[in-house]
Amino acid sequence: MKFLYIVALLLLISPTLCFWSTGHMIIARIAYEEIKVKDPAYFKQITKEIELLKDFGQEGVNPFVESAVWADDNKAIAWGAFSNWHFVDTPVIAEGFEGEYEVDKANATWAIYEMEKTLKNTKKPKFNNGLALSFAWRYLIHLVGDIHQPLHASALYSDAFPHGDRGGNSFKIKYPKDKQIYNLHALWDACVDQYGSIWAPINEGEWNQLGTFADKVTAEYPRNKVASRVKILDEREWAKESNKIAKEAVYADIEPKTIPSDEYIERGRKVVNEQLAVAGYRLTDLMLKLRHYVGEENEVESFISE
Ligand SMILES: *[C@@H]1O[C@H](CO)[C@@H](O)[C@H](O)[C@H]1NC(C)=O
Repeated sequence: MKFLYIVALLLLISPTLCFWSTGHMIIARIAYEEIKVKDPAYFKQITKEIELLKDFGQEGVNPFVESAVWADDNKAIAWGAFSNWHFVDTPVIAEGFEGEYEVDKANATWAIYEMEKTLKNTKKPKFNNGLALSFAWRYLIHLVGDIHQPLHASALYSDAFPHGDRGGNSFKIKYPKDKQIYNLHALWDACVDQYGSIWAPINEGEWNQLGTFADKVTAEYPRNKVASRVKILDEREWAKESNKIAKEAVYADIEPKTIPSDEYIERGRKVVNEQLAVAGYRLTDLMLKLRHYVGEENEVESFISE
């Protein structure tokens, strides 16, 4: 337990955790565009619910998408109580390694399940549930992103990392093009060096950029191409997929303290782009499914007709 505590502390102070920000917002943008078309009334309702906590973050005019990084921003104001929710570091055991490993019980799959529970509650609340709904949407959107980043669902155990590599945070690499990418976790949080780093609040140019990125990954991986994956809406399966990807693509063909090969980078980018598209579609489908009690006053038409 003590070991896990130290890990949590190290993760908290690790600046590399924040890079996936653009990834988070690309995923949220995919869901934003899809839900807006698929169910405009429900889209309005969700947007309103997310916006309730707008003043407690760095959001501008598009909280639906910008709030995708709120959960990371909260770490910067020492609101660290939920830091373990961002990952479910399932072991990837190197061949020949025989040591022990630990798993954390407050993890991303558990947190996603809990957020869903809040958002599916159809029982009439005795008091205003707006805070709970806004919080749950925001963490749900964020955590669906995190769990699709393979290194948020994996930790390598090997002779070099007998206590685990903390989701690639201890796995140092050389990356001359960008000195901030100095470990494997950072490389993958940076979408394998694609899309830069966009943070809330986003301006119009960044909004358009996000749109371009979302279009790119959905054009490369349209729904029909990844249909068999998209239909899986169980967060435990998502974590297993990510863990498998870590084993087969993230930890394969790379050694600590070396420069990743061009082949590694090229393969990694494809893997990331598919993960972004799949996560976006799954987020859409999940959000459309989570129809909770909204109260009489702000009940919207599509909701009544359910
Ligand atoms: C995640 O947390 C849940 C709930 O505490 C636990 O049952 C599960 O074993 C954990 N999963 C992993 C892979 O650590």
